[in-house]
Amino acid sequence: MATEFGKLAARRRIPFPPSVPFPKRGRPEADVLADIRSLIAEDPWPVEGDFALAYAGPPHPIAARAANLARGSIFVEWVEDMYPSAFRLEKEAVSMMASLLGAPEGVGFLTTGGTESNISAVRLAREIGAKSRPEFILPTSGHFSFRLAAELLGVRIRDLPIDEATMRPRAEQLPRLVNRNTVGIACSAPEGAFGQLDPVAEFAAFAERRGLPLHVDAAFGGFILPFLRDLGEPVPPFDFSLPGVTTISTDGHKLGLMPLTTGFFLVRDRDLLAHIPSDETMLHTITSTKPGGTAAAAWAVLQAQGRDGYRETVRRAMRTVGTLADGIAAIPGLRVVMPPFITVLCFTADDLDVAAIHEGLRRRGWGSSYGPINGIPIVRLSISPYRTPAQARGFLAALRETVAEVGA
Ligand SMILES: Cc1ncc(COP(=O)(O)O)c(C=O)c1O
Repeated sequence: MATEFGKLAARRRIPFPPSVPFPKRGRPEADVLADIRSLIAEDPWPVEGDFALAYAGPPHPIAARAANLARGSIFVEWVEDMYPSAFRLEKEAVSMMASLLGAPEGVGFLTTGGTESNISAVRLAREIGAKSRPEFILPTSGHFSFRLAAELLGVRIRDLPIDEATMRPRAEQLPRLVNRNTVGIACSAPEGAFGQLDPVAEFAAFAERRGLPLHVDAAFGGFILPFLRDLGEPVPPFDFSLPGVTTISTDGHKLGLMPLTTGFFLVRDRDLLAHIPSDETMLHTITSTKPGGTAAAAWAVLQAQGRDGYRETVRRAMRTVGTLADGIAAIPGLRVVMPPFITVLCFTADDLDVAAIHEGLRRRGWGSSYGPINGIPIVRLSISPYRTPAQARGFLAALRETVAEVGA
Protein backbone atom coordinates (compact mmCIF):
# COMPACT_ATOMS: atom_id res chain seq x y z
CA MET A 1 0.00 0.00 0.00
CA ALA A 2 1.36 3.42 -0.85
CA THR A 3 0.11 5.07 2.29
CA GLU A 4 0.37 3.21 5.53
CA PHE A 5 -0.21 6.18 7.78
CA GLY A 6 -3.16 4.73 9.59
CA LYS A 7 -1.52 1.39 10.32
CA LEU A 8 -1.45 0.55 14.00
CA ALA A 9 2.13 -0.71 13.97
CA ALA A 10 3.40 2.83 13.66
CA ARG A 11 1.21 4.21 16.37
CA ARG A 12 1.44 4.36 20.12
CA ARG A 13 -0.74 1.68 21.72
CA ILE A 14 -2.38 2.37 25.05
CA PRO A 15 -3.33 -0.43 27.43
CA PHE A 16 -6.87 -1.68 27.10
CA PRO A 17 -8.89 -0.37 30.09
CA PRO A 18 -9.73 -2.91 32.82
CA SER A 19 -13.24 -4.44 32.90
CA VAL A 20 -15.83 -2.51 34.88
CA PRO A 21 -18.85 -4.19 36.52
CA PHE A 22 -22.28 -2.75 35.85
CA PRO A 23 -22.91 -0.17 38.65
CA LYS A 24 -25.15 -1.57 41.40
CA ARG A 25 -26.39 1.80 42.57
CA GLY A 26 -26.65 5.18 40.95
CA ARG A 27 -24.07 7.78 42.03
CA PRO A 28 -24.38 11.51 42.63
CA GLU A 29 -23.94 13.56 39.47
CA ALA A 30 -21.01 15.54 40.91
CA ASP A 31 -19.01 12.35 41.52
CA VAL A 32 -19.75 10.98 38.08
CA LEU A 33 -18.67 14.20 36.40
CA ALA A 34 -15.55 14.45 38.57
CA ASP A 35 -14.45 11.03 37.29
CA ILE A 36 -14.84 12.17 33.70
CA ARG A 37 -12.97 15.40 34.43
CA SER A 38 -10.02 13.53 35.88
CA LEU A 39 -9.87 11.21 32.85
CA ILE A 40 -9.92 14.17 30.47
CA ALA A 41 -7.13 15.80 32.49
CA GLU A 42 -4.91 12.85 31.56
CA ASP A 43 -5.30 13.44 27.80
CA PRO A 44 -1.93 14.40 26.32
CA TRP A 45 -3.05 17.75 24.95
CA PRO A 46 -5.98 20.12 25.36
CA VAL A 47 -8.32 20.56 22.37
CA GLU A 48 -6.70 23.96 21.75
CA GLY A 49 -3.32 22.27 21.26
CA ASP A 50 -4.63 19.76 18.73
CA PHE A 51 -2.91 20.02 15.36
CA ALA A 52 -3.49 16.33 14.68
CA LEU A 53 -7.15 16.28 13.70
CA ALA A 54 -9.24 18.59 11.56
CA TYR A 55 -12.31 17.88 13.62
CA ALA A 56 -10.94 18.97 16.98
CA GLY A 57 -13.71 21.49 17.67
CA PRO A 58 -15.65 22.95 19.22
CA PRO A 59 -18.11 23.37 16.34
CA HIS A 60 -19.74 26.62 15.29
CA PRO A 61 -21.69 27.95 18.31
CA ILE A 62 -25.03 27.92 16.45
CA ALA A 63 -24.77 24.12 16.11
CA ALA A 64 -25.50 23.45 19.78
CA ARG A 65 -28.30 26.03 19.87
CA ALA A 66 -29.96 24.58 16.77
CA ALA A 67 -29.54 21.01 18.03
CA ASN A 68 -31.13 22.05 21.29
CA LEU A 69 -34.19 23.42 19.47
CA ALA A 70 -34.63 20.06 17.74
CA ARG A 71 -33.75 17.93 20.76
CA GLY A 72 -35.68 14.73 21.13
CA SER A 73 -36.66 14.64 17.46
CA ILE A 74 -35.25 12.06 15.08
CA PHE A 75 -34.79 11.43 11.41
CA VAL A 76 -34.78 8.05 9.78
CA GLU A 77 -36.18 7.00 6.44
CA TRP A 78 -38.65 4.42 7.60
CA VAL A 79 -40.58 6.98 9.66
CA GLU A 80 -39.57 10.18 7.94
CA ASP A 81 -43.11 11.49 8.38
CA MET A 82 -42.83 11.32 12.16
CA TYR A 83 -40.72 14.46 12.48
CA PRO A 84 -41.18 16.27 9.18
CA SER A 85 -39.07 19.16 10.49
CA ALA A 86 -35.98 16.98 10.94
CA PHE A 87 -36.59 15.31 7.57
CA ARG A 88 -36.81 18.68 5.88
CA LEU A 89 -33.74 20.07 7.66
CA GLU A 90 -31.74 17.02 6.57
CA LYS A 91 -32.85 17.15 2.94
CA GLU A 92 -32.34 20.91 2.72
CA ALA A 93 -28.84 20.67 4.21
CA VAL A 94 -28.04 17.96 1.62
CA SER A 95 -29.50 20.09 -1.13
CA MET A 96 -27.43 23.14 -0.13
CA MET A 97 -24.24 21.08 -0.27
CA ALA A 98 -25.16 19.44 -3.58
CA SER A 99 -25.81 22.88 -5.00
CA LEU A 100 -22.45 24.20 -3.70
CA LEU A 101 -20.78 21.23 -5.39
CA GLY A 102 -22.36 21.71 -8.80
CA ALA A 103 -25.63 19.72 -8.69
CA PRO A 104 -28.54 21.98 -7.72
CA GLU A 105 -30.88 19.01 -8.25
CA GLY A 106 -28.66 16.65 -6.28
CA VAL A 107 -30.02 14.43 -3.53
CA GLY A 108 -28.59 12.20 -0.81
CA PHE A 109 -28.50 11.95 2.94
CA LEU A 110 -26.66 12.93 6.05
CA THR A 111 -24.30 10.25 7.29
CA THR A 112 -22.10 9.79 10.32
CA GLY A 113 -19.05 10.83 8.29
CA GLY A 114 -16.73 9.93 5.47
CA THR A 115 -16.67 6.23 6.23
CA GLU A 116 -20.43 5.77 5.99
CA SER A 117 -20.58 7.98 2.90
CA ASN A 118 -17.86 5.99 1.14
CA ILE A 119 -19.59 2.71 2.02
CA SER A 120 -22.80 4.17 0.58
CA ALA A 121 -20.98 5.06 -2.64
CA VAL A 122 -19.58 1.56 -3.13
CA ARG A 123 -23.03 0.13 -2.36
CA LEU A 124 -24.69 2.34 -4.95
CA ALA A 125 -22.05 1.47 -7.56
CA ARG A 126 -22.47 -2.22 -6.83
CA GLU A 127 -26.23 -1.95 -7.29
CA ILE A 128 -25.94 0.02 -10.53
CA GLY A 129 -23.40 -2.44 -11.92
CA ALA A 130 -25.28 -5.58 -10.84
CA LYS A 131 -22.29 -7.87 -11.55
CA SER A 132 -21.87 -11.29 -10.01
CA ARG A 133 -18.21 -10.61 -9.02
CA PRO A 134 -18.14 -6.85 -8.59
CA GLU A 135 -14.83 -4.94 -8.64
CA PHE A 136 -14.17 -1.34 -7.66
CA ILE A 137 -11.10 0.67 -8.70
CA LEU A 138 -9.37 2.68 -5.96
CA PRO A 139 -6.09 4.61 -5.98
CA THR A 140 -3.76 3.25 -3.30
CA SER A 141 -3.97 6.68 -1.66
CA GLY A 142 -7.74 6.20 -1.17
CA HIS A 143 -9.13 6.18 2.36
CA PHE A 144 -9.27 2.80 4.10
CA SER A 145 -13.06 3.12 4.49
CA PHE A 146 -13.31 1.87 0.88
CA ARG A 147 -11.61 -1.33 1.96
CA LEU A 148 -14.17 -1.71 4.74
CA ALA A 149 -16.89 -1.11 2.15
CA ALA A 150 -15.39 -3.78 -0.08
CA GLU A 151 -15.23 -6.26 2.77
CA LEU A 152 -18.81 -5.60 3.89
CA LEU A 153 -20.29 -5.54 0.41
CA GLY A 154 -18.42 -8.44 -1.14
CA VAL A 155 -16.69 -6.21 -3.66
CA ARG A 156 -13.08 -6.69 -4.77
CA ILE A 157 -10.84 -3.61 -4.72
CA ARG A 158 -8.53 -3.17 -7.72
CA ASP A 159 -5.59 -0.97 -6.69
CA LEU A 160 -4.62 1.89 -8.95
CA PRO A 161 -0.99 2.84 -8.29
CA ILE A 162 0.02 6.39 -7.46
CA ASP A 163 3.10 8.47 -8.16
CA GLU A 164 4.57 8.67 -4.68
CA ALA A 165 6.44 11.90 -5.42
CA THR A 166 3.22 13.78 -6.16
CA MET A 167 0.64 11.46 -4.54
CA ARG A 168 -1.30 11.63 -7.82
CA PRO A 169 -2.97 8.41 -8.96
CA ARG A 170 -1.75 7.12 -12.31
CA ALA A 171 -5.04 7.75 -14.11
CA GLU A 172 -3.50 6.59 -17.40
CA GLN A 173 -3.53 3.07 -15.94
CA LEU A 174 -7.31 3.01 -15.44
CA PRO A 175 -7.97 1.11 -18.71
CA ARG A 176 -5.69 -1.70 -17.50
CA LEU A 177 -7.88 -2.26 -14.40
CA VAL A 178 -11.31 -2.16 -16.01
CA ASN A 179 -12.92 -5.44 -16.94
CA ARG A 180 -16.45 -6.78 -17.28
CA ASN A 181 -16.79 -6.99 -13.47
CA THR A 182 -15.96 -3.34 -12.80
CA VAL A 183 -18.82 -1.53 -11.07
CA GLY A 184 -17.20 1.78 -10.17
CA ILE A 185 -14.19 3.98 -9.55
CA ALA A 186 -13.26 6.35 -6.73
CA CYS A 187 -10.79 9.18 -6.39
CA SER A 188 -10.08 11.75 -3.69
CA ALA A 189 -10.44 15.49 -3.49
CA PRO A 190 -8.02 15.61 -1.82
CA GLU A 191 -6.39 12.42 -0.49
CA GLY A 192 -5.98 12.32 3.26
CA ALA A 193 -2.24 11.78 3.77
CA PHE A 194 -0.78 14.96 2.25
CA GLY A 195 -4.00 16.68 1.18
CA GLN A 196 -3.08 16.60 -2.52
CA LEU A 197 -5.80 16.69 -5.19
CA ASP A 198 -6.32 13.68 -7.46
CA PRO A 199 -6.75 14.41 -11.20
CA VAL A 200 -10.53 14.21 -10.85
CA ALA A 201 -11.24 15.55 -14.36
CA GLU A 202 -9.24 12.71 -15.91
CA PHE A 203 -11.08 10.16 -13.79
CA ALA A 204 -14.43 11.72 -14.67
CA ALA A 205 -13.75 11.76 -18.41
CA PHE A 206 -12.70 8.10 -18.28
CA ALA A 207 -15.69 7.05 -16.16
CA GLU A 208 -18.09 8.83 -18.49
CA ARG A 209 -16.53 7.23 -21.56
CA ARG A 210 -16.82 3.78 -20.02
CA GLY A 211 -20.27 4.33 -18.51
CA LEU A 212 -19.03 3.69 -14.95
CA PRO A 213 -20.03 5.56 -11.79
CA LEU A 214 -17.29 7.77 -10.33
CA HIS A 215 -17.31 8.58 -6.62
CA VAL A 216 -15.30 11.56 -5.39
CA ASP A 217 -14.20 11.34 -1.77
CA ALA A 218 -14.22 15.04 -0.87
CA ALA A 219 -14.26 14.36 2.88
CA PHE A 220 -12.03 17.41 3.27
CA GLY A 221 -12.47 19.08 -0.09
CA GLY A 222 -16.19 19.83 -0.12
CA PHE A 223 -15.84 22.36 2.65
CA ILE A 224 -12.64 24.00 1.47
CA LEU A 225 -12.05 23.75 -2.30
CA PRO A 226 -15.01 25.94 -3.41
CA PHE A 227 -13.92 28.64 -0.98
CA LEU A 228 -10.22 28.41 -1.87
CA ARG A 229 -11.35 29.01 -5.45
CA ASP A 230 -13.36 32.03 -4.30
CA LEU A 231 -10.15 33.31 -2.74
CA GLY A 232 -8.43 33.16 -6.12
CA GLU A 233 -6.56 29.86 -5.78
CA PRO A 234 -6.37 27.77 -8.97
CA VAL A 235 -8.53 24.82 -7.93
CA PRO A 236 -9.15 22.33 -10.78
CA PRO A 237 -12.70 21.00 -11.20
CA PHE A 238 -13.42 18.20 -8.76
CA ASP A 239 -17.19 18.04 -8.29
CA PHE A 240 -20.53 17.57 -10.11
CA SER A 241 -19.47 20.27 -12.57
CA LEU A 242 -17.72 17.31 -14.22
CA PRO A 243 -20.46 15.24 -15.91
CA GLY A 244 -18.67 11.96 -15.09
CA VAL A 245 -18.95 12.47 -11.31
CA THR A 246 -21.93 10.51 -9.97
CA THR A 247 -21.52 10.72 -6.18
CA ILE A 248 -19.56 12.81 -3.67
CA SER A 249 -18.87 12.43 0.01
CA THR A 250 -17.97 15.41 2.13
CA ASP A 251 -17.76 15.89 5.88
CA GLY A 252 -19.35 18.72 7.79
CA HIS A 253 -17.42 17.64 10.86
CA LYS A 254 -14.01 18.15 9.28
CA LEU A 255 -13.73 21.64 7.79
CA GLY A 256 -17.46 22.48 7.84
CA LEU A 257 -17.61 23.60 11.48
CA MET A 258 -20.34 21.02 12.19
CA PRO A 259 -20.44 18.69 15.17
CA LEU A 260 -19.18 15.13 15.01
CA THR A 261 -20.84 13.08 13.49
CA THR A 262 -22.00 14.96 10.38
CA GLY A 263 -21.22 13.68 6.90
CA PHE A 264 -22.92 14.17 3.53
CA PHE A 265 -23.47 11.54 0.87
CA LEU A 266 -24.46 13.36 -2.30
CA VAL A 267 -25.89 11.81 -5.46
CA ARG A 268 -26.11 13.67 -8.77
CA ASP A 269 -29.83 12.97 -9.23
CA ARG A 270 -32.79 11.14 -7.81
CA ASP A 271 -32.84 8.40 -10.49
CA LEU A 272 -29.34 7.27 -9.53
CA LEU A 273 -30.20 7.06 -5.84
CA ALA A 274 -33.20 4.88 -6.68
CA HIS A 275 -30.77 2.06 -7.57
CA ILE A 276 -30.23 1.37 -3.86
CA PRO A 277 -32.80 -1.28 -2.97
CA SER A 278 -34.80 -0.31 0.10
CA ASP A 279 -37.91 -2.49 -0.13
CA GLU A 280 -36.55 -5.00 2.38
CA THR A 281 -34.22 -2.77 4.42
CA MET A 282 -36.48 0.30 4.55
CA LEU A 283 -33.29 2.35 4.29
CA HIS A 284 -30.95 3.77 1.66
CA THR A 285 -28.56 4.63 4.48
CA ILE A 286 -26.06 2.35 6.26
CA THR A 287 -26.94 3.50 9.77
CA SER A 288 -30.48 4.08 10.91
CA THR A 289 -32.00 6.54 13.42
CA LYS A 290 -30.14 9.81 13.99
CA PRO A 291 -30.90 12.76 16.27
CA GLY A 292 -32.93 15.53 14.64
CA GLY A 293 -30.41 17.84 16.27
CA THR A 294 -27.73 16.66 13.81
CA ALA A 295 -29.86 17.79 10.87
CA ALA A 296 -30.77 21.05 12.60
CA ALA A 297 -27.13 21.78 13.43
CA ALA A 298 -25.95 21.07 9.87
CA TRP A 299 -28.70 23.23 8.39
CA ALA A 300 -28.05 26.03 10.87
CA VAL A 301 -24.27 26.12 10.35
CA LEU A 302 -24.71 26.29 6.55
CA GLN A 303 -27.22 29.11 6.87
CA ALA A 304 -25.26 31.03 9.49
CA GLN A 305 -21.95 30.75 7.65
CA GLY A 306 -23.04 31.14 4.04
CA ARG A 307 -20.48 31.23 1.27
CA ASP A 308 -18.94 34.45 2.57
CA GLY A 309 -18.57 33.03 6.08
CA TYR A 310 -16.82 29.88 4.87
CA ARG A 311 -14.59 31.96 2.63
CA GLU A 312 -13.38 33.83 5.71
CA THR A 313 -12.98 30.64 7.73
CA VAL A 314 -10.87 29.15 4.95
CA ARG A 315 -8.82 32.33 4.58
CA ARG A 316 -8.07 32.22 8.32
CA ALA A 317 -7.25 28.50 8.31
CA MET A 318 -4.90 28.85 5.32
CA ARG A 319 -3.15 31.74 7.05
CA THR A 320 -2.50 29.44 10.02
CA VAL A 321 -1.24 26.77 7.61
CA GLY A 322 1.13 29.36 6.08
CA THR A 323 2.43 30.40 9.52
CA LEU A 324 3.11 26.76 10.37
CA ALA A 325 4.69 25.89 7.00
CA ASP A 326 7.03 28.91 7.12
CA GLY A 327 7.87 28.26 10.77
CA ILE A 328 8.67 24.59 10.14
CA ALA A 329 10.76 25.33 7.03
CA ALA A 330 12.81 27.80 9.10
CA ILE A 331 13.81 25.15 11.67
CA PRO A 332 17.16 23.64 10.63
CA GLY A 333 16.88 19.90 10.10
CA LEU A 334 13.14 19.85 9.30
CA ARG A 335 11.63 19.57 5.84
CA VAL A 336 8.05 20.22 4.72
CA VAL A 337 7.38 17.21 2.51
CA MET A 338 4.96 18.78 -0.01
CA PRO A 339 3.68 22.32 -0.35
CA PRO A 340 0.30 22.27 1.42
CA PHE A 341 -2.67 22.49 -0.92
CA ILE A 342 -5.28 22.52 1.86
CA THR A 343 -5.08 22.36 5.65
CA VAL A 344 -2.86 19.28 5.77
CA LEU A 345 0.84 19.80 6.38
CA CYS A 346 3.47 17.07 6.64
CA PHE A 347 7.08 17.35 7.68
CA THR A 348 10.01 15.05 8.18
CA ALA A 349 13.69 15.23 9.11
CA ASP A 350 16.48 13.49 7.24
CA ASP A 351 18.90 13.30 10.18
CA LEU A 352 16.70 13.43 13.25
CA ASP A 353 14.46 10.89 14.97
CA VAL A 354 11.03 11.95 13.66
CA ALA A 355 9.14 9.74 16.13
CA ALA A 356 11.01 11.45 18.97
CA ILE A 357 9.95 14.85 17.61
CA HIS A 358 6.33 13.71 17.67
CA GLU A 359 6.77 12.43 21.23
CA GLY A 360 8.46 15.66 22.34
CA LEU A 361 5.53 17.70 21.02
CA ARG A 362 3.11 15.41 22.83
CA ARG A 363 5.02 15.82 26.10
CA ARG A 364 4.79 19.58 25.67
CA GLY A 365 1.00 19.37 25.21
CA TRP A 366 0.77 19.72 21.41
CA GLY A 367 -1.02 17.27 19.17
CA SER A 368 0.26 15.92 15.85
CA SER A 369 0.05 12.53 14.13
CA TYR A 370 3.01 10.33 13.34
CA GLY A 371 3.53 7.45 10.95
CA PRO A 372 5.27 6.39 7.78
CA ILE A 373 3.87 7.53 4.44
CA ASN A 374 5.45 5.97 1.36
CA GLY A 375 8.21 4.70 3.65
CA ILE A 376 9.12 8.18 4.99
CA PRO A 377 8.59 8.92 8.71
CA ILE A 378 6.16 11.80 8.82
CA VAL A 379 4.69 14.17 11.38
CA ARG A 380 1.31 15.11 9.96
CA LEU A 381 -0.72 18.15 10.94
CA SER A 382 -4.38 18.47 10.01
CA ILE A 383 -5.24 22.01 10.91
CA SER A 384 -8.70 22.67 12.26
CA PRO A 385 -10.25 26.00 11.24
CA TYR A 386 -10.53 26.66 14.97
CA ARG A 387 -6.77 26.86 15.51
CA THR A 388 -5.55 30.44 15.92
CA PRO A 389 -2.27 32.06 14.81
CA ALA A 390 -1.32 32.33 18.51
CA GLN A 391 -1.77 28.58 18.90
CA ALA A 392 0.31 28.02 15.75
CA ARG A 393 3.09 30.15 17.25
CA GLY A 394 2.84 28.14 20.49
CA PHE A 395 3.14 24.92 18.49
CA LEU A 396 6.19 26.25 16.63
CA ALA A 397 7.90 27.32 19.86
CA ALA A 398 7.38 23.80 21.25
CA LEU A 399 8.65 22.31 17.98
CA ARG A 400 11.85 24.41 18.08
CA GLU A 401 12.48 23.29 21.66
CA THR A 402 11.78 19.66 20.78
CA VAL A 403 14.06 19.68 17.73
CA ALA A 404 16.89 21.18 19.82
CA GLU A 405 16.36 18.46 22.42
CA VAL A 406 16.17 15.61 19.88
CA GLY A 407 19.21 16.97 18.00
CA ALA A 408 21.24 17.02 21.20
C1 LIG B 1 -10.09 11.44 2.63
C2 LIG B 1 -10.91 10.83 3.76
N1 LIG B 1 -12.02 10.12 3.46
C3 LIG B 1 -12.78 9.57 4.43
C4 LIG B 1 -12.47 9.72 5.76
C5 LIG B 1 -13.33 9.04 6.81
O1 LIG B 1 -14.05 9.99 7.53
P1 LIG B 1 -14.73 9.67 8.94
O2 LIG B 1 -13.63 9.50 9.92
O3 LIG B 1 -15.56 10.88 9.19
O4 LIG B 1 -15.55 8.45 8.79
C6 LIG B 1 -11.33 10.45 6.12
C7 LIG B 1 -10.99 10.62 7.54
O5 LIG B 1 -10.13 11.37 7.93
C8 LIG B 1 -10.53 11.02 5.09
O6 LIG B 1 -9.42 11.72 5.38
